[in-house]
Amino acid sequence: VQSKFYSPDARRAEKVHELFAQIARRYDFLNDVMSAGLHRRWKNRLVELADARPDQKILDLCCGTGDLACRFQAGAGVIGVDFTEEMLKIAKVRAKNARFLQADALALPFRDDIFDVVSVGYGLRNLADLERGLREIHRVLRRGGKFLSLDFGKPESPALRKLYFSYLRTVLPLLGRIYCGDPDTHGYILASLQEFPAQRGTKLLMEKIGFVRCGFEEFCGGAMAINFGEKS
Ligand SMILES: C[S@@+](CC[C@H](N)C(=O)[O-])C[C@H]1O[C@@H](n2cnc3c(N)ncnc32)[C@H](O)[C@@H]1O
Repeated sequence: VQSKFYSPDARRAEKVHELFAQIARRYDFLNDVMSAGLHRRWKNRLVELADARPDQKILDLCCGTGDLACRFQAGAGVIGVDFTEEMLKIAKVRAKNARFLQADALALPFRDDIFDVVSVGYGLRNLADLERGLREIHRVLRRGGKFLSLDFGKPESPALRKLYFSYLRTVLPLLGRIYCGDPDTHGYILASLQEFPAQRGTKLLMEKIGFVRCGFEEFCGGAMAINFGEKS
């Protein structure tokens, strides 16, 4: 599966940046179309699992247009971080409960042990180096702090996996063509999913790095999942 926005080499981050700069204006609308609005429910579930108190410090990484950041309780100290200016511009207008910062998730401009919660919505799959990203998250979390990530998963059932991959292979490029004038913008999702270890591999990697109480919650038979864990 190919997309001009997926480059498994040194240009990975540059291409991801290019993609999100191009689709920023259509991003939220297309999430509703692709998931029939279900992504809202999954994001709300992540916020529920985070169970953050209003006085806690939350980092929403790869925050994009702020669609996850804005779901945390008003008053919670939320900082959204993303490297795409076009996405952040939208976030700054819509999410009044949060502050936003342009930075690279692989080299966070924060001290060790400061956040109570780190959340990521559809971000891990886009990182050029997943292990390095998870290590950065672990570094900035305080002891006992929680990490939660929502992303596309890989269903265990072969029949469901086939159906789901054929949806990603056929319907999504069509939506990309219709709404963004380019099938590759949404063909990217399947391309990026191929190398991504999804819910089971992410859990193993988190355990290797030192997260504890790791697990995941699945939706739609594992086509979507929330990974979670804590810093011991
Ligand atoms: C699919 S969007 C997710 C937006 C939002 N979190 C949501 O749930 O709707 C992925 C975002 O990750 C950002 N991103 C990818 N790699 C990044 C990196 N290394 N550092 C910071 N942001 C990154 C992209 O710019 C993009 O806005």
